[in-house]
Amino acid sequence: MSQNYRIRGTEEYTRIYNESKTSPEEFWGGIAEAFSWSKKWDAVLKWDFNQPEVKWFEGGKLNLSENCIDRHLNALGDKNAFIFEPNNPNEPTEYISYSELSKRVNRFANLLLSKGIRKGDRVCIYLPMIPDLPVAMLACARIGAIHSIVFAGFSAQALASRINDSDCKMVITSDGSFRGEKSIELKNIVDEALLNCTTVETVLVVKRIHSKVTMMPERDYWIAPLLEQQSEVHTAEQMDAEDPLFILYTSGSTGTPKGMVHTTGGYMVNAAYTFQNVFQYEPEDMYWCSADIGWITGHSYIVYGPLLNGATSVLFEGVPSYPDCGRFWQTIEKLNVNQFYTAPTTIRSLAKESLDFVNRYDLSSLKTIGTVGEPINIEAWNWYNDNVGKGKATVVDTWFQTETGCILISPIPNATPSIATFATLPLPGVQLVLLDDDGNEILGNDVKGKLCIKAPWPSMARTIWGNHQRYKETYFTAFPGYYFTGDGALRNEDGYYRITGRVDDVIIVSGHNLGTAPIENVINEHEKVAESAIVGVQHPIKGMALFGFVSLKTIELDDENLLKQEINQLIASKIGPIAKLDFIQFTQELPKTRSGKIMRRILRKIANNESDSLGDVSTLLNPPVVAQLIELYNTKFKK
Ligand code: WT7
Repeated sequence: MSQNYRIRGTEEYTRIYNESKTSPEEFWGGIAEAFSWSKKWDAVLKWDFNQPEVKWFEGGKLNLSENCIDRHLNALGDKNAFIFEPNNPNEPTEYISYSELSKRVNRFANLLLSKGIRKGDRVCIYLPMIPDLPVAMLACARIGAIHSIVFAGFSAQALASRINDSDCKMVITSDGSFRGEKSIELKNIVDEALLNCTTVETVLVVKRIHSKVTMMPERDYWIAPLLEQQSEVHTAEQMDAEDPLFILYTSGSTGTPKGMVHTTGGYMVNAAYTFQNVFQYEPEDMYWCSADIGWITGHSYIVYGPLLNGATSVLFEGVPSYPDCGRFWQTIEKLNVNQFYTAPTTIRSLAKESLDFVNRYDLSSLKTIGTVGEPINIEAWNWYNDNVGKGKATVVDTWFQTETGCILISPIPNATPSIATFATLPLPGVQLVLLDDDGNEILGNDVKGKLCIKAPWPSMARTIWGNHQRYKETYFTAFPGYYFTGDGALRNEDGYYRITGRVDDVIIVSGHNLGTAPIENVINEHEKVAESAIVGVQHPIKGMALFGFVSLKTIELDDENLLKQEINQLIASKIGPIAKLDFIQFTQELPKTRSGKIMRRILRKIANNESDSLGDVSTLLNPPVVAQLIELYNTKFKK
């Protein structure tokens, strides 16, 4: 495997970072040479953030699945690409070599073609964490179909809206999924979703939990018997570097989810580069990312990044608490995991359990341990560093977004320092800036501002599916000429970055991005509700939790608990259980400005027990409401 883009040491980081800044085209063009292209690109980069338009490796032709699989077959055919660790530890672990993966992907690609899927068609994948999931993804990439993976915890309605937004022609799902003691009937959810979808012609179903499902003739097919009929040979479709590879939905602060469109060539180069450097992956290492492939972390760091480096990637179906809270640590010992990557919320939930669960296992194989998804608090960072890494493995706090495709800010083990709660430094090729509210770059150190990026990187999303205007407005309008991340950050006296959290109406709960507006819209559908406003409150495990202020149409409320249940039920069915509110306060009115805007800033303070620093509220339309809400908070929620 090519290790020619590997950074080793501090001086090398500094030199390469500076080169990447002065000559980005030479820098990324050089890395791109490591891959197979059936036609070389005409230009490394063309860009204009005002349009916005970004093109990497334009004119180049390649296939991503070929680069992930075929390119390695000679040297690494017998090496494991994936190791599948099932939900139930008594079920056997499955080892899938690169040559086995190649056969499965080729068969699957031929199956997609036999069902009429062609280059450019959208295929929705709604699967649990089983080998069929990466196989289906890679098969799509192989024939040039655009995959849209929907996390298999989303509700029928959320699934339907994603299928419809991008007019998917096919859904790939399973009868159900195992999650700890529970199982979820996924095919039923798909059936319900498809009542509201008109574009889906075919549903392919994997048998996983052996539950009873209804198969609609001429639409639904069991996958296994069809795969058996397919050839193990398939010639990969050659794609343009800028052809879409996948769509992945992320919630926004307003309206419907945004289908972020990622393209082929740039994403490949960036995913491979960041995987190798952030995790310092060595050819014999065992790598495990515990995220779900339904999120960007799984796309880039369970599937594409590792495979592009010929790595072995663990695919874990279960949950951290089953059969007990030692499952992660047991799995690390069992498989000799060298790099482990998880989320702060998972660390916090395991840190509250007895240390025996960790200490029972030998974790000495670990070299790099990563976190991603939300700011990591100092207690969780220390716990992870001390008890999992034993002070020997390097903690990498990695920052990125669905939109950025790949990690942009992270320590690089053995090259740049790892500092508790800091994502630290931009990776080569990434030009970070902090802006003030007027859009001026804040220079120097020991400063804070809005985190923006000044120049394109190869794996940035190119547009929002079907809505380029929204792409422009969301990311390129607040600060013209810059990509705006939506995050606030500080740069300390030594120049290291710490991400402080969202500065928009997105709240990250247990690592899941939740826009407040879509949840409020659902609550407002309830017949008793007039209006609602959701704010985030600090939570010891989830990081943030949702606190809803709900004003009612009626003055009388006979059963408060029932109404709370109904509201959460509504949210669970329309969005998913992850969006349920932890706290609800009913009220007659919400505090508003004179122009009628709900004062979320004030609600945020009340819900976080910071009402002594509310500032001046006398300019509000209805100041007495604030006093009432503080009173209610103090009697009901204050500990
Ligand atoms: C948002 C993106 C990136 C994969 C999972 C989340 C927050 C992400 C960190 C970190 C502080 C982080 C940001 C970002 N975030 N990583 N290391 N430290 N915050 O992807 O769902 O698109 O969410 O997650 O707020 O904007 P996503």
